[in-house]
Amino acid sequence: MPFDCLDLPWRTAYPALCEWLDSLSLEALQAYKASPETLAEAVKTWLPEAQQLVALCETNVNQAERYQTDICHESEANYDSHLATGIPGRKWAQITAFNRAISLSHQGSWLEWCAGKGYLGRVLSACRQAKVTSLEWQPALCQDGQAYADQHQLSMHFVNGDAFAPESEALVSRCDHAVALHACGDLHVTLLRHGVVAKPQSLTVSPCCYHLIRDSHYQPLSVLAKQSSLSLSRHDLKLPLQETVTAGQTVRNKRIVEVSFRLGFDSLQRALGHSDSYLPVPNVQKSLLSEGFEAFCHWAADKKGISIPDNTDFAAYLRQGETRFLTVEKMETLRTLFRRALEMWLVLDRAIYMSENGFDVEISTFCARELTPRNLLIKATRKAKWN
Ligand SMILES: C[S@@+](CC[C@H](N)C(=O)[O-])C[C@H]1O[C@@H](n2cnc3c(N)ncnc32)[C@H](O)[C@@H]1O
Repeated sequence: MPFDCLDLPWRTAYPALCEWLDSLSLEALQAYKASPETLAEAVKTWLPEAQQLVALCETNVNQAERYQTDICHESEANYDSHLATGIPGRKWAQITAFNRAISLSHQGSWLEWCAGKGYLGRVLSACRQAKVTSLEWQPALCQDGQAYADQHQLSMHFVNGDAFAPESEALVSRCDHAVALHACGDLHVTLLRHGVVAKPQSLTVSPCCYHLIRDSHYQPLSVLAKQSSLSLSRHDLKLPLQETVTAGQTVRNKRIVEVSFRLGFDSLQRALGHSDSYLPVPNVQKSLLSEGFEAFCHWAADKKGISIPDNTDFAAYLRQGETRFLTVEKMETLRTLFRRALEMWLVLDRAIYMSENGFDVEISTFCARELTPRNLLIKATRKAKWN
């Protein structure tokens, strides 16, 4: 937990590695964070396994349908323009990429698990003239999605329901193909579990939010992962998500200010004897940050019921905050080596589970990381002997 550490926690175990990290500027740290391969090369003297770890995260880019001549796959410009209505640009790009990764030859009925407004379902339905059932928890999203489908004569049917409810299993039994784009943690795992029982022809899942699980610790799915000694808390499971590859420089600069303020306030509250461990404060209106560090401290102290003495040297605490920000960045840089590796381990557990239960499985990336860092795709196709 980097915010809790006042210094690098590996000073004694890895003194030379820490010295090297200390020698890096913020710009250099950010550059290493953006390039795990370069980082692995740079730290190989101290962490020889880093390069292997990064290499194990390589995946195929999904090209399967790229050159298909169908109007929906040929180029994004050829999608019926109305299909993108109301869909934010980045989401639309993810959806068309996801659609491209699925064979057009898949015939039959589709289930869209945790559909939101059914953006993916509408593209699947339009491109394949297919029947799509979209399961979604929020009634308003179902209404919006159904209204759109009816207006455009798409064969979509929204089911307003809970993916965890026993009756949702029947939806998996009734479909030929199931998809889930960014259904969180236990939600997509539930789909895979139902898939193993119902054996549809295919399941295509892009997982996200691995930490959103009901148990306190990760419950491996595959026989293989169950044998592992790796025990992952919900906090551990957040690691793959704690990166901001899609943020621009302005967002990054604002983060530097906000995190330095938070850490500076934390140093102040520690000095006042309030708490020995990191004291989180709630989300802050970004406009407050432009009022300066002192104003931020008064706001945060008010939230936490702390009184700040009149003679407080705010400039000194801000300097401490800025130093601690750099320390956090050093820790975050090294954590970069483990983010994708942990995600890959979790995705492999899902893939192996499907493979152990009658499916051929492929893991690929369906779009660039800049579009979404959650770009891994698990495609499970029922093995021939089950057909
Ligand atoms: C991250 S969104 C993804 C939506 C959509 N697949 C997309 O990519 O645009 C997750 C969706 O799952 C829905 N959801 C959450 N819990 C659910 C549950 N228990 N049953 C069904 N849907 C649920 C949410 O309402 C939300 O629309």
